[in-house]
Amino acid sequence: MKVISVINYKGGVGKTTLSANIAAELAYQGKDVLVIDLDPQTNLTLSFIDVNEWQRLDSQGRTIKHWYDDFLDNDNDSSLRSLIITPQRINNQLNSYNAGGKVDLICSHLELINVDMELATRLGGNSDRTIRSNFLRVLSRLKQRIDDIKNDYDVILIDCPPNFNIVTQNAIIASDYYLVPAKPDYLSTLGIDQLLRHINELTNRYNRFVDEAARSEWVNITPTVLGVIFTMVTFYDQQPISAQREYIAQVRRTGTNTFTNYVRDNKTLFADAPEYGVPVVLKGDLGGTHLTVRTELEDVIAELIALAGF
Ligand SMILES: Nc1ncnc2c1ncn2[C@@H]1O[C@H](COP(=O)(O)OP(=O)(O)OP(=O)(O)O)[C@@H](O)[C@H]1O
Ligand SMILES: [Mg+2]
Repeated sequence: MKVISVINYKGGVGKTTLSANIAAELAYQGKDVLVIDLDPQTNLTLSFIDVNEWQRLDSQGRTIKHWYDDFLDNDNDSSLRSLIITPQRINNQLNSYNAGGKVDLICSHLELINVDMELATRLGGNSDRTIRSNFLRVLSRLKQRIDDIKNDYDVILIDCPPNFNIVTQNAIIASDYYLVPAKPDYLSTLGIDQLLRHINELTNRYNRFVDEAARSEWVNITPTVLGVIFTMVTFYDQQPISAQREYIAQVRRTGTNTFTNYVRDNKTLFADAPEYGVPVVLKGDLGGTHLTVRTELEDVIAELIALAGF
């Protein structure tokens, strides 16, 4: 069982679209997948369920924001299990293909942004010991509760917001692996080096505190980058256009693994009203360019499966 975060500081690079498609494809191939939406924008949540269902879950206190509230208000260490739902549209589609797996979801909430600010106030302290224990408590809580449900799934995917706030850091600490979707353009590739460096710094700090605390409830972590996946790639003559090739080459030169397969730019297929649709990999009966796009996406996910070993 593996936990994988999908992360990039840069917004709009295809994190959520890729998360939904990876989840759908893995379930199609027989895996039980849980997707956790940690982005206050709730894009992934609202691509799997409609807004009325989300409002019902909100009123029942069944979003990740409520779980954080329980921690912040009551210092409660509650399970994530009661938050898990099985969204119908995607699972009906999977069943119609006789797929062996399923996609479950933990929903996000617009007010998760306030949670982030409040978590930040729980850090710090006036002695090394307090700083260390506050840091470990705030940063490890999500990991510990994810660890409890790990055996229920083959894969847990976390769709991260475009920042490195504490909720995002929670995701990294909970993860075995992470994936970095990026558009092959200046701004999207610029931050990758910095992102990897920040993740390494976070990991080192966390592990140092774990070692110093020397208590069995906290264990060392090794979140490992699986690679950069280039999205929204424009092809000419069966290869990315030259401007994009340059950015791809630039990231390759840094030594970070980059996926050899790309996600092609296709507004019609990907921007197709996600609130009514299903992820592209589950769209049957495609022809022409649309079939090419889906096949390439499947190739990206096959590469991921080979890298992650599941
Ligand atoms: N391969 C693609 N081709 C064309 N459009 C795409 C592709 N992938 C995603 N999109 C579109 O680009 C927009 C941004 O995608 P998405 O929401 O997945 O990015 P994101 O990185 O999760 O954004 P954010 O940082 O805001 O969470 C969406 O409108 C989506 O439909
Ligand atoms: Mg997103």
